Amino acid sequence: MTRTYVFIAALITALTGAAIAQDSVATLRSGVPLDQHPAPPQIATVKDTDLRQVRNYPEQPPLIPHKIDGYQIDINANKCLQCHSRTAIEISQAPMVSITHFMNRDNQFLASVTPRRYFCTQCHVPQSDAADLVENTFVDIDKVLEYVAGTKAEDH
Ligand code: HEC
Ligand code: HEC
Repeated sequence: MTRTYVFIAALITALTGAAIAQDSVATLRSGVPLDQHPAPPQIATVKDTDLRQVRNYPEQPPLIPHKIDGYQIDINANKCLQCHSRTAIEISQAPMVSITHFMNRDNQFLASVTPRRYFCTQCHVPQSDAADLVENTFVDIDKVLEYVAGTKAEDH
C-alpha cells in the first residue's frame, strides 16, 4: 500500500517537473502565444574597437577586434590573409599569423599557411555587445593560480 503511494507521489513529482520544464522552454518565445509572432530581438552590434583583447588562457585563439562582415574565405580567396599573411603586414600593420599557423600535424613548418589553419573563423571570432544568454562563471587562469597558491599557503 505505502509503496503505491510512494509511486504515485513520484509520478506526480515527475509530471509536474516536466510541466514546469515545458513552461520554461515556452518562455523562449517571451510568453508570446504560438499563433503570434514575437518582435524579433535587435541584431547585436559587432565590437569594432581595433584593440587587441586579453587572452583568457595562453592557448586561446585571440578574439577578432574588428568587423569581418563580408570577408570571403574560400578556395578562391582568403580576405584575412590579405592583411595577416607574412608579406601583407608591412602595409596592413596587422599582427602576422603566428608560426603555429605554418605547422602541419607532424609539427613540421611549411612555407605557407597550413591547410589546417586556412579557415580562420573556425577558431577566431569577433565579439558582439549581446547580453549573456546564460550566467558565465569562467575564472581567469591567474585567479586559479592565486587560489592554488592561497590553499598551499594554508597547508603550511
Ligand atoms: C584590412 C586588414 C585586415 C583584414 C582583412 C583582417 N584583419 Fe584582422 N586585424 C587587422 C589589424 C590591423 C589588427 C590589429 C588590431 C586592429 O587594428 O584591429 C587585426 C587584429 C586581428 C586579431 C587580433 C590578434 C591579437 O593578437 O589579438 C585577430 C585574431 C584577427 N585580426 C583575425 C582576423 C581574421 C580571422 C580575419 C578574416 C576573417 C581578419 N582578421 C581580417 C587587420 C585586418
Ligand atoms: C585551428 C584553429 C586556428 C585557425 C584555423 C586559425 N588560427 Fe589563428 N590562432 C589560433 C591560436 C590557438 C592562436 C594563439 C596561439 C598561436 O599563436 O598559435 C592563434 C593566433 C593568431 C594570431 C595572433 C598571432 C600573434 O603572434 O599574436 C593571429 C593574428 C591569427 N591567429 C590569425 C589567424 C588567421 C588570419 C587565420 C586564417 C588564415 C587563423 N588565425 C587561423 C588558432 C587558429
